[in-house]
Amino acid sequence: MKFFIDTADLDEIRELSATGLLDGVTTNPSLIRKAGGEFFETIAEIAKLVDGPVSAETVATDHETMLKEGLKLAKIADNIAIKVPLTVDGLKTCKALRAQGIMVNVTLCFSASQALLAAKAGASFISPFVGRHDDISQDGMALIEDIRTIYDNYDFETEILVASIRHPLHVVEAARIGADVATIPAAVMKKLFQHPLTDRGLEAFLKDWKETGQSIL
Ligand code: G3P
Repeated sequence: MKFFIDTADLDEIRELSATGLLDGVTTNPSLIRKAGGEFFETIAEIAKLVDGPVSAETVATDHETMLKEGLKLAKIADNIAIKVPLTVDGLKTCKALRAQGIMVNVTLCFSASQALLAAKAGASFISPFVGRHDDISQDGMALIEDIRTIYDNYDFETEILVASIRHPLHVVEAARIGADVATIPAAVMKKLFQHPLTDRGLEAFLKDWKETGQSIL
């Protein structure tokens, strides 16, 4: 499963990119606002920091303007994926951008029917928001299972990009189901590494090693 980081914070991206485990980045208007930088400069810098897809989101709601925005954003770098909302105009724009060979990430997906439409529109990625389902006591991961089944039934090439991740179990469940990508907030990504038994075991190993009085280097 590919790991994308869900942030526009350049320091977070630099820190986690250094692990060699990062396969891409997703941003959205809220994350851009939170990071505080100039949009085009931020996306251009992110696209240099990672080789994989970097999602940059349009902000128009009509197809004609959304397409213009997408074509302009795609010029920033070769690894830009244009994010469009799951609306009629968003899927029209998806089809038009894909026809020009531009990666498209269809976002704000909350149902299997929406995901089916995005695949038919040729989306490169579909972003179902699992956390926002969970936030209203719905089962966000059940949506991922439905989408996986539907996409496998028809060999759709659209990659399932699990978004709105709140904790490590969302990542584990997404991998169990067979999602293609998880886009993970930096804080959650760091939690994936952590286990108290690892810490305790390492501490014991190093204590015992120290008592041997030996060194490796
Ligand atoms: O990529 C979409 C993601 O940023 C949304 O997450 O936490 O706002 O639901 P959240």
